[in-house]
Amino acid sequence: MRERLKKGLPTVDSWNQAWSGRKGKQVQKTLNNLKVTIICGFVTILVLRGTMGGTSFYSPAATQDENLASSRETRRILAAQKLDEEEEDPVVGPDLPYSIGPKIKDWNEQRALWLSENPHIGAKTANGKDRFLLVTGSQPQVCENAVGDHYLLKSIKNKVDYCRLHDIEIFYNMAHLDKEMAGFWSKLPLIRKLMLAHPESEWIWWMDSDAMFTDMVFEIPIDRYKDHNLVVHGFKEKVYQNKSWVGLNTGSFLMRNCQWSLDLLDAWAPMGPKGPVRMEAGKLLTQSLAGRPKFEADDQSALIYLLITQKELWASKVYLEESYYLHGYWMIIVDKYEELMKNYHPGYGDHRWPFVTHFVGCKPCNKVGDYPAEQCMKQMERAFNFADNQILQLYGFEHQNLGTGKVKRIWNDTADPLHLLHP
Ligand SMILES: *[C@@H]1O[C@H](CO)[C@@H](O)[C@H](O)[C@H]1NC(C)=O
Ligand SMILES: *[C@@H]1O[C@H](CO)[C@@H](O)[C@H](O)[C@H]1NC(C)=O
Repeated sequence: MRERLKKGLPTVDSWNQAWSGRKGKQVQKTLNNLKVTIICGFVTILVLRGTMGGTSFYSPAATQDENLASSRETRRILAAQKLDEEEEDPVVGPDLPYSIGPKIKDWNEQRALWLSENPHIGAKTANGKDRFLLVTGSQPQVCENAVGDHYLLKSIKNKVDYCRLHDIEIFYNMAHLDKEMAGFWSKLPLIRKLMLAHPESEWIWWMDSDAMFTDMVFEIPIDRYKDHNLVVHGFKEKVYQNKSWVGLNTGSFLMRNCQWSLDLLDAWAPMGPKGPVRMEAGKLLTQSLAGRPKFEADDQSALIYLLITQKELWASKVYLEESYYLHGYWMIIVDKYEELMKNYHPGYGDHRWPFVTHFVGCKPCNKVGDYPAEQCMKQMERAFNFADNQILQLYGFEHQNLGTGKVKRIWNDTADPLHLLHP
């Protein structure tokens, strides 16, 4: 099976080439269709003007003959256009595959220069830690499911709390920066854009809007990654041997701001463009990865595919982290919160106190997800409150239970507040 997969896998390059040819033709077709549409529109205006007795194109004295002549002329133009189309078809148009942006080759040098010219900013925070920019976002429209917006708000509050405590900047995106890369692919152009616009950030940390911090104390063990550029929750065996499509999860990952990452984004993006490219790539991914259902290409599968097919190019700089929940699948976590609260305390980040609880498949903003909406909402509420307790406790409150927004006092204010807060 493994051998068959290895042999059967087309490389990303061959796949790119196959697609770019078709894409060029498609662009040409679209242009031709556009021309026909414009001409048809023009004809419609002529006819309307004629019927309504407009004056600018037809003089009031215009005779029926002239009108007839005019419509013959229109037919002639349309026929010529058709001929044109047939002739132009073989001509190859702009033939490039999708590109995520102008090719950059010396980002490390550009960034180093910028940092040396802006020493007052620097790639480290005041505490000497690597600078992080956490990136998340949601669609620009109101959620289909009204309560979805409420959970998006809770989810961003949760992230604001974590980032405030850990000296991390946040960027919340609500704009479609790249129409071709809509949906789960939108993170790629966004991350690239932010890397280039924020040379001071050593790391870009992508987090899905349906993921929440549930350990407010745990901190990324960044020293562990000094020789790596991409940190993602996953398992070596599952990715490289089993080729499992869930061998890693792209709901929360760190990317170093460097040339390697830009190169990875270039290699990662070509399966993303909406439409036939994404559909066709989906087939390839389903055929190549274990357990993947049939659906259009997604960024997670595409990353796994890259790691498998071009292991020598990427794998050495990718850290598959499994020692804590950089992403934690909600189904194996949410029922345990009460038990964890009894036995442990924040700071572990692993199964004892999950760092991140990710509501994979819940899609709180959509009408339909992979799980019943009620179950999702109930558990998101619990995850939020579990995390929020760790914030409220600093101010003398906690939730009455994980299912409610209502809070109770856990200590009384005193006339000596600073002593209590900072004993
Ligand atoms: C990989 O696949 C083998 C054979 O199907 C299975 O026994 C093993 O548990 C899998 N490993 C992981 C980490 O899923
Ligand atoms: C706070 O003070 C009130 C009134 O003195 C008291 O009844 C209550 O038990 C105190 N609560 C806590 C958590 O100490």
